Amino acid sequence: MPYRNQIFGGLFPSRSITLSGMVPPNATRFHINLKAGNTTALHINPRFNENVIVRNSKLNNCWGSEDRHLPIGMPLSRGQAFSIWILCETQCFKVAVNGQHLFDYNHRFPNLRQIDQLEVEGDVTLSGVQIS
Ligand code: GAL
Repeated sequence: MPYRNQIFGGLFPSRSITLSGMVPPNATRFHINLKAGNTTALHINPRFNENVIVRNSKLNNCWGSEDRHLPIGMPLSRGQAFSIWILCETQCFKVAVNGQHLFDYNHRFPNLRQIDQLEVEGDVTLSGVQIS
């Protein structure tokens, strides 16, 4: 950690990223960023001290408003393995955790092809990353 990978060709509708890993027992937080240069198009930030997954974007060096609503509650926990699936669609990212749809995130940075970096940092151990 941190984990960084290039997404060759950037994103487009139907492209998806699957991450599997493990949350350490003493985890506080980690994040998954999809970036275009200095822009963070999507920040997925599980916070175990707040029991929430914060979603946001950082455009022109400023964080926007946070999405925090989790319709089925917090699906990640300390000490547990997980999988996170991020599907890029035309209007939004669709995100599923452990095979269950969790939230949509409407694109705030619409130049999808420019989103070409995947970054994972914080309290997590990755076991697999697949970009398809
Ligand atoms: C901030 C935090 C950032 C990011 C952001 C998301 O408070 O420092 O790392 O998580 O919230 O809105």
